[in-house]
Amino acid sequence: MTVQSQIPVSDIDLFTDDALRDPYALYAALREMGPVVHLPQYDLYAITQYAGVREVTMNCEVFSSAQGVGLNDVFNTATRGNIINSDPPEHRVMRQVLQRPLAAEKLRDIEPLLQREAAAVVNRVLASGSFDVIEELAQHLPLTVVSKLVGLGDYGRERMLDWAAAAFDALGPMNERTAAALPKAKEMVDFALSAKPDTLDPDGWAAALFAAGEAGELPAEKCPVMVQDYTAPSLDTTILGIGSILWLFATHPDQWEKVRQNPALIRHAINEGLRLESPIQLFCRVATEDHRLGDVTITAGSRVMVLYGSANRDERKYQNADVFDVTRKASDHLAFGAGEHACIGMTLARLEIRLLLEQLVPRVKTFELGDGERMLNNLLRGFSHLEMRAILDDE
Ligand code: HEM
Repeated sequence: MTVQSQIPVSDIDLFTDDALRDPYALYAALREMGPVVHLPQYDLYAITQYAGVREVTMNCEVFSSAQGVGLNDVFNTATRGNIINSDPPEHRVMRQVLQRPLAAEKLRDIEPLLQREAAAVVNRVLASGSFDVIEELAQHLPLTVVSKLVGLGDYGRERMLDWAAAAFDALGPMNERTAAALPKAKEMVDFALSAKPDTLDPDGWAAALFAAGEAGELPAEKCPVMVQDYTAPSLDTTILGIGSILWLFATHPDQWEKVRQNPALIRHAINEGLRLESPIQLFCRVATEDHRLGDVTITAGSRVMVLYGSANRDERKYQNADVFDVTRKASDHLAFGAGEHACIGMTLARLEIRLLLEQLVPRVKTFELGDGERMLNNLLRGFSHLEMRAILDDE
């Protein structure tokens, strides 16, 4: 006979300003309570530890995305059927088409373009002495991808960042932040629905989506909204990731020196930075049947919240989990999710970060941190502003 335990209950609120600024002590407390903790304030079951988050995300039959991966019904209902809010087989049809330009061999073709852009933006910020990491450095490659590769040109570019952040805020619980974001997220959807194939770069990823729709590979009416799958989840995520990784290096000069001594560590440093400061902290699923996780049972119909940000700092999985160590080989972190819905843009995101670091590593001796401001977003983590001065080798 198996022993059945009660699911622990907590009134920890992960969505206050203070919690968003620094959630790690709260995550640690939740992990200590158990792999599943009920948060009655939001009627959510938090999945707190690495093993549980991996188990839930790998099992999309039991833990469905089709009722929405957000924490409120308005967003979940409005975005039903989007790739992220769907289950197989509907999900696979969209994913197969969307991921085509993001395959490793396709990315090899665009690497020279991104490398030139990375060199240009790094030359610019290094020449200017001190710079805002987010606005002047981190935004450049993700926005270049949207305008030149997705093929949207400058159309909507100035609103894109605002919309992308709102799209993540709008997934939160029904708080003020969510309420303020919902109209902006709707604006983004309306903009996407107004996209006409003839305004797109004919060689771009968006045009290829419409072509796949016309060829009957996926329902044509899904195409306008699917264009957003190349914009909404690709901007802030990568931008915040770049910002946090440079912040980690600025605050850990010994780790920067290690990478300078051995640039082969760059790819481990990228995983380590994303593990420690995961740009997306959480998403939800809904249990379709009773499921036992550890020694508790999650009942059918429960909304569970997978805490990627907590899983990635779980001491049960990573020794000295709060320590930034560029020699750690953390490629199994969950910052890109796992399973059926694992990020389709992870190879591109890693490429963009690597190209920037490859420009900085040979030239920057050390970084001096200036003022920084955290972005307070229901799902995202990172800086909205981060001033930095790069001290160069020849200074
Ligand atoms: C550092 C950068 C990024 C991070 C941390 C990140 C993180 C994630 C995570 C955690 C998921 C899993 C969603 C789930 O579990 O339900 C996801 C899915 C997704 N990501 Fe990313 N992402 C990044 C960059 C990108 C880029 C560059 C693109 C597109 C070019 C992209 C497009 C998507 C899409 C379309 C999905 C949904 C996949 C599906 O539902 O099958 N992401 N991402």
